[in-house]
Amino acid sequence: MGTSETILQVLSGAVLLPYHSDSFFEKSNSLLSFKYHVNSRRKKGSGLMQRVNYSRSSRNCMRIYALGCPHSVSHGKTLNDRFESVSCKCQQADSVDAVTAENGLGTGTNGTFNSLISPQVDVAQQLNHHNEGLASIGKSVTVGTINDTPSIVTFDSIEDEAWNLLRESVVYYCGNPIGTIAANDPTDSGILNYDQVFIRDFIPSGIAFLLKGEYDIVRNFILYTLQLQSWEKTMDCYSPGQGLMPASFKVRTVPLDGDDSAMEEVLDPDFGEAAIGRVAPVDSGLWWIILLRAYGKCSGDLSVQERVDVQTGIKMILKLCLADGFDMFPTLLVTDGSCMIDRRMGIHGHPLEIQALFYSALLSAREMLAPEDASADLLRALNNRLVALSFHIREYYWVDMKKINEIYRYKTEEYSYDAVNKFNIYPDQIPPWLVEWMPNKGGYLIGNLQPAHMDFRFFSLGNMWSIVSSLATMEQSHAILDLIEAKWAELVAEMPFKICYPTLEGEEWRIITGSDPKNTPWSYHNGGSWPTLLWQLTVACIKMNRPWIAENAVKIAERRISRDKWPEYYDSKRARFIGKQAHLFQTWSISGYLVSKLLLANPEAAKILINVEDTELVNAFSCMLSANPRRKRVRKGSTQSFIV
Ligand code: GLC
Repeated sequence: MGTSETILQVLSGAVLLPYHSDSFFEKSNSLLSFKYHVNSRRKKGSGLMQRVNYSRSSRNCMRIYALGCPHSVSHGKTLNDRFESVSCKCQQADSVDAVTAENGLGTGTNGTFNSLISPQVDVAQQLNHHNEGLASIGKSVTVGTINDTPSIVTFDSIEDEAWNLLRESVVYYCGNPIGTIAANDPTDSGILNYDQVFIRDFIPSGIAFLLKGEYDIVRNFILYTLQLQSWEKTMDCYSPGQGLMPASFKVRTVPLDGDDSAMEEVLDPDFGEAAIGRVAPVDSGLWWIILLRAYGKCSGDLSVQERVDVQTGIKMILKLCLADGFDMFPTLLVTDGSCMIDRRMGIHGHPLEIQALFYSALLSAREMLAPEDASADLLRALNNRLVALSFHIREYYWVDMKKINEIYRYKTEEYSYDAVNKFNIYPDQIPPWLVEWMPNKGGYLIGNLQPAHMDFRFFSLGNMWSIVSSLATMEQSHAILDLIEAKWAELVAEMPFKICYPTLEGEEWRIITGSDPKNTPWSYHNGGSWPTLLWQLTVACIKMNRPWIAENAVKIAERRISRDKWPEYYDSKRARFIGKQAHLFQTWSISGYLVSKLLLANPEAAKILINVEDTELVNAFSCMLSANPRRKRVRKGSTQSFIV
């Protein structure tokens, strides 16, 4: 359906919900019931098409995209029924129309994934089940909310404490663990959306659970977030691509339809339409693919990635990322704040973090996609993109002393196919700090590349994940670690690890951040230090067989992290203060530390996250390097050409 048609339908009071086109919705005898009035129709030969009618009589309309609570297997059902509710809570509730339709969640693979969803949700039963779940692990956890009491227990080690805190952060959905909340500080009243399960924040939690042999929570997380992927998401009548994964979701307890005395649990995702700044979570789907691969590798259970709905989910993410656009570069073009740095920080365009995750997700997806005719085109596009992307990043994002010296002597305004200075970078752009900072030994990938613009800031996650995913060459990967060692006093200082270096100050800060009071110099995203980055550093160091670098960083973290109550980030040039507005008991600070400890104790396990360099890519890469730069332009479709 075209955008204009969608707008027309919205304006006239009808919105067509997107749907999974594969058998995702066809699997079982399932029933979807939506509140209020309902229309449903089946599209010939495929899945479900749902129609929701909203009356826009109230501007205060709040939609809840909700997954109703499933009965668990232990309740004696064997078929996977699915109950979903989409409700529109307005001031005048009865002015809202909604839907029923058929739907179905694919069958759990080994009987432990409780994906049975019934139209009549027995809340009492669910709560019982939920409580049983809690009792069985002996923790006091509230569904979808934070705990009221801090843990006042002494632990033998920081690790024990971290495990305890991580378990306390677990969010349950109808008794099943499905994620961890972002922060669990009972004394914090300004929690904002930190009581939600963030996709990116859950990754280190998921890895920690995998490494501990606790697979259920990760499997549940993968399958439930997959269902959220298919939801309609709109902001002011505009819907982003179907493959988008939410930034976060929350388990809400809401009154059961038609029965004020009963409650039900629903999953309520945020695709950025409620997020501060309305940022698009581009990284969510990429992380989801990376976690899915890690789950299969760690648990040995490949049946999850083989499921039709999961395969469809992977393809939807890929389609969204591989779609043609106006861009001239193979890097993924995104808006500011589309990744871990989810506020304006001048990283719109082609930020390194997204490129590294994109590359990693493409390689991981290629490993998991089932070979079938329908995927041939997708696989071709994927392979082409991998080659072009790695060439582009390795060639144009890389800086070291030699490269800076080249840029320093660049000619500009070169109009030709074989220009040396392809992006027309003016040498004056080389920032004064870099001239001093760049070590003789070492180098790194810059933060962003645009026409006439190189963002020379060092972004840690992008560099670390370029090592992990083999987006950087082996030589470059070692050089990045050399730089980290050489610049330890700035990048690690008193708490690992600076999110980026250096900070934006003065006029630059005012213009680039929009005078953001949270992103003041050496704070938060603007040069703040984030303990969670320890885990990515650890995987990168293990991959390059230099684990001692990560070990040293962990030791530094251990001096303070527990005493400081596991802050989200630290401020100041040397990371001496707990972040001005940092949340305490930040889950990914806790799980990031745990993943580092677990991996350093068992480095082999890091393989579940690492992408080894692909020999075909290496060959294609060297062909491109040796090719005549004055390559002739070819008609599309005649032979393969890459824009590099
Ligand atoms: C902040 C971080 C973001 C994280 C969120 C929840 O917004 O920038 O990366 O996901 O907090 O912890």
